[in-house]
Amino acid sequence: MSINNISLDIDYVRAQFPAFQDTLCKNWIFAENAGGSYVPNEVINRLSKFMISTKVQPYAEYPMSKIAGNEMDEATKLFAKMINAKKNEILIGGSTSVNLYVLSNALKNFIKKGDEIIVTNQDHEANISPWRRLEENGAVIKEWKFRNDTAELDIDDFKKILSDKTKIVAVTHCSNIVGSVNRLQEISKLSHEKNAFVIGDGVSYAPHGFPNVKELGVDFYTFSLYKTYGPHLGLLYGKEEILKLLPNQNHEFLNGNYPYTINPGGPNHEELVSLIGIYEYIINFYNHHFKDKDLDIRDKIEKINNLISKHEEEIANPILEYLSNRNDIKLIGKKYIKNKNRAPTISFISKQKTSKEISKILVKNYIATRNDNFYAWRCLKALGIDTEDGVVRISLTHYNSIKETEKIIKALQKI
Ligand SMILES: Cc1ncc(COP(=O)(O)O)c(C=O)c1O
Repeated sequence: MSINNISLDIDYVRAQFPAFQDTLCKNWIFAENAGGSYVPNEVINRLSKFMISTKVQPYAEYPMSKIAGNEMDEATKLFAKMINAKKNEILIGGSTSVNLYVLSNALKNFIKKGDEIIVTNQDHEANISPWRRLEENGAVIKEWKFRNDTAELDIDDFKKILSDKTKIVAVTHCSNIVGSVNRLQEISKLSHEKNAFVIGDGVSYAPHGFPNVKELGVDFYTFSLYKTYGPHLGLLYGKEEILKLLPNQNHEFLNGNYPYTINPGGPNHEELVSLIGIYEYIINFYNHHFKDKDLDIRDKIEKINNLISKHEEEIANPILEYLSNRNDIKLIGKKYIKNKNRAPTISFISKQKTSKEISKILVKNYIATRNDNFYAWRCLKALGIDTEDGVVRISLTHYNSIKETEKIIKALQKI
């Protein structure tokens, strides 16, 4: 697939990920990317370099320590640039679940009895439970339910439950089951008219293109770095003017030192530094495909995102088409991807076989995927799907190839 005659060079991309040459993995089609992605050489190199010479307490005067501290700062700075945030608007924590829990704990001070919080039934539990828990602080929880025929959230339904009492709106940018991309920009605009905070869960969105958080207009945005080609960490973005107002949940002497006030304790140092490797991968990817070297990082990312989405359309649409044409299979979500309206995260159930049985057949055919509720159990319950057996989920990303798509369809034909 090409944009302006530029095609994603899949052989180049796959060569950057040692997993695809590794004896244990090389015969497998990896289709569980929504669970976590493999990492490119740049991330591994950064991690091992840090572990060899700079794995000491950072920010002291001796060079190993100085470099460690500088690299930790650099990693945060680069990620801030990549999503168009300021450096002091980025918090790196252990995972998205932890980050959202810690954030909800900080925001609970803003909640008075009778204030309303909107959560969806489409989200992963990580962006539901922490907000529902604020019921203990007097909040009234309102559920934005997706439409049963499409499994999609409809803005008109949101408008009906949004009110002057709404204080928090927690909504996924892209569901890890349905795959549809939700209109966060519009949701933010509507919520801000009511002075409510918007918390966007970008975990299933960010692996398909780092977003511009300012353009989305959200107050908080979160994603898991282990699904965006990095180590097991989570990133939380928060608008500076709101972070400033949050209580200090860290050591007392850090009062006022946001964003370090949000999370009690810092992230894993070596993993934080390895995030520089994601940036390097992105830049190398850009330089391999595009000539104009003078653009700033956000413009480069926009170009990469377009290239990636076109490629993902090409590899996912044939599977979506195949599954949606089978009478014995219920595909969840949109039947094709167009203009970034859906991620290549494909969930389905069979009318004849359990998801576990299908998953086993796929694994026998060297397709690494699984059946589960993927912690979006409210979504599955609303869809009337057994939350134990769950759905089968084939989740692709830009390093999957069209050859793999053909093999996946062949394997699905055996079911
Ligand atoms: C959409 C979505 N949100 C949140 C999470 C939780 O992320 P973490 O594992 O970093 O806590 C996941 C994890 O699978 C997810 O898919």
